[in-house]
Amino acid sequence: MEINKVGVLGCGLMGSGITQVSAQAGFETIVREVEQKFIDKGLGIVDKNLTRAVEKGKMPQEEKHGIMGRIKGTLDLGDLKDCDLIIEAVIENLDLKNETFSALDKICSDKAIFASNTSSLTVMSMAASTDRTDRFCGLHFFNPVPVMKLVEVVKTIATSKETVETCFEFCKKIGKVPILAKDNSGFIVNLLLIPYLLDSIRILEQGVATITDIDTGMKLGLNYPMGPFTLLDFVGLDTTYNIANIMFEEYREKRYAPPPLLKKMILAGYYGRKTGKGFYDYSGEKPVPMDLGI
Ligand code: CAA
Repeated sequence: MEINKVGVLGCGLMGSGITQVSAQAGFETIVREVEQKFIDKGLGIVDKNLTRAVEKGKMPQEEKHGIMGRIKGTLDLGDLKDCDLIIEAVIENLDLKNETFSALDKICSDKAIFASNTSSLTVMSMAASTDRTDRFCGLHFFNPVPVMKLVEVVKTIATSKETVETCFEFCKKIGKVPILAKDNSGFIVNLLLIPYLLDSIRILEQGVATITDIDTGMKLGLNYPMGPFTLLDFVGLDTTYNIANIMFEEYREKRYAPPPLLKKMILAGYYGRKTGKGFYDYSGEKPVPMDLGI
């Protein structure tokens, strides 16, 4: 099946990134939000990213205009009726996602493919809210979407071969590297990443080493771009906490259980970079490790 028009649900960090890479690859892209201010904020990020590319001489000004011209923001779900592929990137609230998918199922063509960017819910739990379980899959992008090359294409027990093939082609067209994952909570990357991040917090709680030394250890010892605490602050402690809870709920295994320190930090409002405090304090010129009283 050929994809011409792409719909994106949600214009937050992930939704705006998906909108950008889709329009950048030449697709007409329409992004739906619930309030105009979220569209303005998300498309503002896209504009800023493209302006930076123009200023660095990596993109002609006309190309930026072309990309922005292919993007439309809307508050009306009905505007997505002629999309061939719809990618959902709203908050990890299953009821909200299913309400939207169910409404779209009635509006969109039978051929349209629905995909979710969920990072931890099972895709089947969303597909079940529609009558197109064969044309429903996961497309899990990574933050920051314009930079990160990977997309996990998630095949449920009902997703058709054609849907997977079409999504693989789409990912390649937008410059990403698709990999195939089964519909198990956490797919491939988060299944391994979340226990690693939670274990990092556990060894900090146990007093094995300091935030800085654990980060330096994993960064220099394994050539990771950033240590676990820098990554936790980057991903968001609230996001990690939610993912861990969903995975724990699914598997009932200790390795996915959020450690008490993570919960305390959420309660204190230490969400990471987005709130200015997490495992590091970002109020000064350089991030400084927080004194968490350990
Ligand atoms: N949006 C768009 N472009 C961005 C960006 C952003 N938020 N941040 C950086 N960039 C671009 C820069 O413009 C720059 O582009 P050019 O090379 O064209 O000039 C390039 O990325 C490199 O940027 P910097 O040199 O400023 O920064 P850096 O060397 O620190 O690299 C990074 C940035 C690639 C994001 C790096 O910090 C990194 O690899 N971080 C780890 C990211 C990661 O692990 N993400 C996965 C999170 S887990 C997840 O998303 C899944 C989940 O379900 C939780």
